[in-house]
Amino acid sequence: MAGDVVRVGAPGYAPGAAIRQRFPIFEHTTYVNSCSQGALSEDVRRAYGEYLDGWDLHGAAWEHWVERAEAARAAFARLVNATPDEIAVTTSVTQGVNAVVSALPLELGERRRIVISELEFPTVGQIAHAQELRGAEVVHVRPERDGTIPLERFDEAIDERTALVCCTTVSYRTGTRLDVAEVARLAHERGARVLADSYQAAGSIALDVRALDVDFLTAGTVKYLLASAGLGFLYCRSELVEELLPVQTGWFADEDIFQMDISDYSPHASARRFDAGTPPVPNIYAGLAGMALVEAAGVDAIEAHVRGLNERLLAGLDELGASVATPRAEERRGALICVRSTDVGALVQALQEESIVTSSRDGNLRISPHVYNVDEDVDRVLEALGRHRHLLA
Ligand SMILES: Cc1ncc(COP(=O)(O)O)c(C=O)c1O
Repeated sequence: MAGDVVRVGAPGYAPGAAIRQRFPIFEHTTYVNSCSQGALSEDVRRAYGEYLDGWDLHGAAWEHWVERAEAARAAFARLVNATPDEIAVTTSVTQGVNAVVSALPLELGERRRIVISELEFPTVGQIAHAQELRGAEVVHVRPERDGTIPLERFDEAIDERTALVCCTTVSYRTGTRLDVAEVARLAHERGARVLADSYQAAGSIALDVRALDVDFLTAGTVKYLLASAGLGFLYCRSELVEELLPVQTGWFADEDIFQMDISDYSPHASARRFDAGTPPVPNIYAGLAGMALVEAAGVDAIEAHVRGLNERLLAGLDELGASVATPRAEERRGALICVRSTDVGALVQALQEESIVTSSRDGNLRISPHVYNVDEDVDRVLEALGRHRHLLA
């Protein structure tokens, strides 16, 4: 059933030219938009075919599907240095964040505050503000003009009234990388929990939940994990699992799915309690294939490769006199570089007409190289930006 999809333990691929051949889009397009969606590989296309073939051949291959969901749980665990029992398999970041937040007793006691960085993805902010309906207060931590959020801002915002701090790892808006480990240290000093939405990091930056010392971490497979929409995960620190009782739940979160018991709520002893309904099986096939490519290249090697590409990009942007919205310090940025524009819609369109795929947020052009990009891609982007210099701020 596995075909020749790259599997864990398969021969490695060096980032760059070798792995690029597995992504047909590069035959005709300069794709630097992994912050929106990773490019489609032959492996992921084949994985969807395997799902359909298995369905055709076996009808309901239920046991195999459940096994694939467990394989995804294990792959997510390896990615962030957790154990599978600390991982929930979700259909989105949104699902995992909702499940965790629903388990916080925000309507009781003194800890009613959720502190969020202003760089969070909308879903995190919207979920936090929805908790105002059950008595929570939301505090925003704002960035400086250079896009960074100094630790002192978090220091001022977090106190003994704080239940949860939401600290995105890399901002989808500006490419700013926050100091998650230091924010976690501050939060823990005051008895608060920390959630790191790491969607813009997973697969392009090494993530280690032990080193970061976060309580919750979430991401999905659409972007740097090279797969499709509809699959994500939530890490929950093992010591916290049993004290958290999500009221956003479902039968796959039960201690015994097959008991089919409608008479009580008995969540699983592990982080499976943050799962919900039937696993997103087709997306799991794709997700395993995408993550196998990431594992075959190695996240450390990808991080180093992307850093090299982004040094080249930043040097070229300086030569063009472009205004870069992403902080300069290497430790304050990830794969995503944002460039200010006078008319970003026109700029994205002009690049698209030259078969260069980028995206935009907040008036910034977003360029996000990944494992399959090479120096020539960066040079093509820079040459095109030179031709459209009037659209750069
Ligand atoms: C940082 C970040 N968080 C969350 C999301 C959305 O997550 P989901 O749609 O899986 O809930 C995105 C998607 O663009 C994102 O960039």
